[in-house]
Parts: sequence; structure tokens; C-alpha cells
Amino acid sequence: MSILSGKKVLIGVTAGIAAYKTAALVRLFIKTGAEVKVVMTPAAKDFVTPLTLSTLSKNPVHSSFYDDEDENAIWNNHVDLGLWADLMIIAPATANTLSKMSAGASNNLLLATYLSAKCPVYFAPAMDLDMYNHPSTNNTFKKLQEFGNIMIPAESGELASGLVGQGRMAEPSTIIDFVEKDILGKLPLNGQKVLITAGPTYEAIDPVRFIGNHSSGRMGIELAKAAANLGANVNLILGPSALTIQHNLIQIINVVSAEEMYQAVVSEYSDCDIAIASAAVADYRPKHVSNQKIKKADSNFSIELERTKDILKWMGSEKKEQFLVGFALETENEEENARKKLKDKNLNLIVLNSLNDKGAGFKGDTNKITLINHKLETKAFDLKTKSEVAKDIFNEINVLKNE
Ligand code: CTP
Repeated sequence: MSILSGKKVLIGVTAGIAAYKTAALVRLFIKTGAEVKVVMTPAAKDFVTPLTLSTLSKNPVHSSFYDDEDENAIWNNHVDLGLWADLMIIAPATANTLSKMSAGASNNLLLATYLSAKCPVYFAPAMDLDMYNHPSTNNTFKKLQEFGNIMIPAESGELASGLVGQGRMAEPSTIIDFVEKDILGKLPLNGQKVLITAGPTYEAIDPVRFIGNHSSGRMGIELAKAAANLGANVNLILGPSALTIQHNLIQIINVVSAEEMYQAVVSEYSDCDIAIASAAVADYRPKHVSNQKIKKADSNFSIELERTKDILKWMGSEKKEQFLVGFALETENEEENARKKLKDKNLNLIVLNSLNDKGAGFKGDTNKITLINHKLETKAFDLKTKSEVAKDIFNEINVLKNE
């Protein structure tokens, strides 16, 4: 999954020969999972058809304040379009449109939309090399960037005029890379390494049987997603779960037993910035694992169990700069038990689930948590989806880390 997945991208097309590349740009944005709308200047329609762009973007494409040929025409609301977008990209951006943008002109739908947009605006200039290097154009670039717009520099190469130099619109794949990197670079967890344990563990009894638990792994997966969406590089150490996730910033390390989970944590822990133990790790495992399937007999059967390693406790004992978060699933004396675990395991924060709360715990899609930090400050949250809970946990982590 790309960081652009789910983002609302508004592409503004102006009248340059590079407009033919916008079709590929729309396709690439759609492939990242973004939602795309296109707005064009009237003259841009001479270079690429609205039909092509509406087919690829799966949305109507507008170039005027109302559609002439449609007798039931409604006003194409530039304010709505501008407010709809999470990011706007003018590509290609001609010298003419850029100068109008810098002057605040609004004599077409694209310009009015630009002036209404509250989101980050990128522009990818495309023009001949002398136009690109002209002091007036450079002044426009400077002014637009001073207003907070982000320039995606033109590339060098052969231009439509036959001349060779800088002025070619950046390739669509370069534009996507540029925007992804720019968004990532501004995220609060950019460059941070986050380690998350999630899911159940299975402790083998024999080749066909195990001791396990009902953890779905969803809470840990939502935590991984929330961290990646904040720009972190995530190592998700996942026990046997039916769920999975695909995201450019999430690396999944699949494990089965508590011992395998421990080994994976040991190799990833030392250089991580934030570690969250959300896994439901078995506290005991069969002392002897049979190589063969155990046959039934008439008499009762018992299994001798031995302790597994407490992975979170190990992380607490080895903690240096890491911000360490644990979970506590309790049925009685909830806050008191959670505070004890916070201390015993040397945590910065503990997430308490009470099985007495409806909708909480490790089976469903919702959770109800109470956060207790190292200063023993306590914050109770309402019942929420696990995705919202994950965001609440990272909000708290960000606040505590920046204190
Ligand atoms: N945990 C762990 N390794 C274990 C057991 C637990 O890393 N072998 C982690 C869990 O991921 C969770 C926290 O420890 O973050 C609390 O687990 P829990 O089972 O509720 O508490 P315990 O400390 O095992 O105590 P008890 O079972 O007595 O409640």
C-alpha cells in the first residue's frame, strides 16, 4: 500500500504538449489507491481529451464553471473541488497558468479551484528551455514557492521545439515518487523504526495439535497501519493470524510460537524507536513436544507445561532509548494490575483492556481502552473501532515522546 492510498488527488491540467503525459499520471495515481479528479483549462482540451481523463480517473472532468453543451448544466463548484482535495497537482503547469496563479487571477475553473484549495499544491512546470530560464518565470517559481506551493522541477532533455535543455515536465513516475517522498518527509514518524508484536502464538503439543488463543491480530495490524501512515518503518512480528496487510512501509515477520516471536524481537529491538507488544503470547508451552501424533487411550491425559519467555519483560530490561508500550488484558482490579505491569516491565505506556467492557478485547473489530503512562496518568477512551484506537495510541505516544 502506498502512502497515497485513500488520498483525494486533484490534478490540474494546463495547455502544454506534456498534457498527453497526464493520462499516465492519472493512471499511476489510481494504481496507488488514490481517488483522482481532474480539472482542466479550456485550452488543455486541445492536447488531451476530457473523455480520456474522465475514463482513467473514473470521475467527470470539468474545464469551465458550467458545461455549455448541457442544457441542464449545473455550476461546477470550484470551492467544493478545492476543499475536496487532500492534495492538488498542476501538471503540466505552463508559464501562462503559473504566472496567473502567482498573480491571483481566477478567469478559469482551474485557477479558481487553485485559489480555493486549502491542501498542499504541487506544480510540475513544462515549457521550452528559454521560457523556463527567463527571469520572469524564475520570479514566478519563487513567488509560488513562497506562497507554500511545492515545485516539482522540470527535467532536461529534448523539448517539443527540438531544442535540448531543462523544461520537460517530470515523468509521471517521477512525480508520484516526488509526492510520496514529500508527504512521507513531513510525517511525524518519518525515519522512525517501530516494532510491533501481534496475534496469537501456537505452542505445539504434537505435529497436529497446539495450545493457542483467540487473538485475531487485528489490533496489532491496525497499529502497524497507523504507524506506517505516520511515516514509520514498521516491523510487524505476527503470530498465526488469518489477517495480513500490505503497505510499502510495513515488513511482516511471520512467527508461530512464543520462542520464534522472542527470537524475532531480539533481532529487531536494539535499533527501534518505538516497540509495542500487542501479541497475546502464550505464557506456557508443553514441556515435551511429541514427534508423532499422540494416540488416544482410555485413561486421562495431562500435559506438563513450562513457562515461555516474557518477551515484553525482556524488552523492558534491555530498554535504552526505546519508547515501550505494553498491553494488559484484565478481568478484575484492572487499573491496579495494569499499573503493576507498567512498573514490572519498565514500560512508558500501557494499554488496558478490560474484559468487563463490552466490545473490548482481542476478538472483535472494536476495542475500549484505558491508557496509563509512566507518570501513572490515566486516560479512558470510549468504545471505538480498532483503527481509531490505534490512532489514539499513537497520538498519546507522540505527545509523551515530545514532552
Ligand atoms: N507478553 C509478552 N510475552 C509473554 C507474555 C506477555 O510479550 N510471554 C506481553 C503481551 O504482549 C502484553 C503484555 O505482555 O503486551 C501483558 O500480557 P498479559 O498476558 O496480559 O500479562 P502477563 O504479564 O503475562 O500477566 P498475567 O498473564 O498474569 O496477567
